[in-house]
Amino acid sequence: MTDNSAANAFDVIVIGAGPGGYVCAIRAAQLGMKVACVEKRATLGGTCLNIGCIPSKALLHSSENYAAATHDLAAHGVMVEGVKLDLARMQARKAEVVGANVKGVEFLFRKNKVSWLKGEGRIVAPGKVSVGETVYEAKHIVIATGSESMPLKGVEVDEKRIVTSTGALELDAVPGHFVVIGGGVIGLELGSVWARLGAKVTVIEFLDSILPTMDREISRTFERILAKQGFSFRLGTKVTAAKADATGVDLTIEPAGGGKGEALRADVVLLAIGRRAYTAGLGLDSVGVALDERGRVKTDAHWATNVPGIHAIGDVVAGPMLAHKAEEEGVALAECLAGQAGHVNEAAIPGVVYTWPEVAAVGRTEEQLKADGVAYTVGKFPFTANGRARAMGSMDGFVKLLADKRTDRLLGAHIVGPEAGTIIAELVTAIEFGASAEDVARTCHAHPSLSEAIKEAALAVGGRALHI
Ligand code: FAD
Ligand code: NAI
Repeated sequence: MTDNSAANAFDVIVIGAGPGGYVCAIRAAQLGMKVACVEKRATLGGTCLNIGCIPSKALLHSSENYAAATHDLAAHGVMVEGVKLDLARMQARKAEVVGANVKGVEFLFRKNKVSWLKGEGRIVAPGKVSVGETVYEAKHIVIATGSESMPLKGVEVDEKRIVTSTGALELDAVPGHFVVIGGGVIGLELGSVWARLGAKVTVIEFLDSILPTMDREISRTFERILAKQGFSFRLGTKVTAAKADATGVDLTIEPAGGGKGEALRADVVLLAIGRRAYTAGLGLDSVGVALDERGRVKTDAHWATNVPGIHAIGDVVAGPMLAHKAEEEGVALAECLAGQAGHVNEAAIPGVVYTWPEVAAVGRTEEQLKADGVAYTVGKFPFTANGRARAMGSMDGFVKLLADKRTDRLLGAHIVGPEAGTIIAELVTAIEFGASAEDVARTCHAHPSLSEAIKEAALAVGGRALHI
């Protein structure tokens, strides 16, 4: 039944409490609007906090510590004997990290007076959202329902032997052979976790490169680094069948273009071939909200759908499926709804792969510049020539900057190397502010720091690197 009482009427109802939705709700409340956020999961924070960014980074950090203790510390003269893995404790720590984060969002909702409507939200008409038996009224509805793992024909997920990222984050034993279908971000991050803990990892990638949307020189170097860490890659290969039994999985693989099949046995298979927009049960058909050819909610540049009063942000709309992209959209949309000017610069959204070393990128790749016929200059600098990287014993990788040949404006920045995801921030700011390579080159960088590799790459754009 529709309840028109003031208690159930809101300025904004956000559906989905992931980084897009919860941030949008908080910003709208800060701007004086009466806001509710509908979430069907038992905890707030969406994919990111519950089954994505945060638990994966907790396991990446823990497994990195384990790998350091087992392999790397001796080189520093730190002799550790009898190192043992307590996977149950590692998983429990991960759960504690997630628990603290999701409770943090609950606290922020209380602080900002955002009402959490618990249950599944359905848009029953423009301006009306049902949750269970109750229909709530809203001047503005924001769809922030996120995404889900993409299925693959012939590969049935049971989250035990054949898992998505969700199951791969919950394994209670280290698999002997961990086979990953998809050489993208999830496959390489979670492959790294289990490789460090002792699994043999094989990555099966359909295309001829891992991280195929990244700058090719970066992804090729990264592939070689991971191969040194023990990863096996089967590029240009597809999985045609996977059958789980009590002890493992039988896979059939063949060349992507067709050809002779080959059998592969795995203990656990991770299916990570991308994610797709999640709109099930939202009632979009009945209210006439248009989707694009990939099932994403279609919006204009200000996140408005074709139905007045209904907006959409985050993984459920076009663009990179990243938590910080969803957050930026959440803030910008809340500001638009408050009558302000909200904007997100698509050209300055960084992407990071949190492996060791890390991979980080912002702006355009060399392949994109070539395809667009843009004349550019390249500046590169290897971490082998960076004093701090040498002190750390982490010299794999390099910084690569791409600048407009005529104006010197930075167009793209790509790093594979230690702390790449942290040091890229300077280049995101530079691109956001329209800086030239020379601006970065003439900025004083602390010594000895990993960021000096960025300064040197910027100097290299002008052919005047100092330390190589
Ligand atoms: P989501 O976080 O997916 O949230 C949507 C929420 O809506 C969910 O909680 C869902 O339960 C809820 N919902 C859906 N339908 C309804 C409904 N009808 N009613 C009520 N509630 C509903 N991104 C990064 O930037 N960095 C990373 O390191 C990173 N690591 C990742 C690791 C993994 C393993 C995965 C899977 C993803 C990772 N991502 C990472 C991607 C990131 O998680 C997403 O880009 C981000 O969560 C998208 O935010 P969102 O708010 O659009 O949607
Ligand atoms: P992805 O798009 O990063 O990679 C999928 C890979 O699978 C691609 O290399 C693709 O060519 C390959 N592929 C597609 N079909 C295939 C097939 N049939 N057989 C073999 N390979 C196939 O997707 P992924 O890794 O599943 O991640 C999903 C999303 O989650 C990404 O968009 C990513 O942005 C986000 N994410 C972000 C993280 C981060 O920012 N650090 C971490 C984890 C996920």
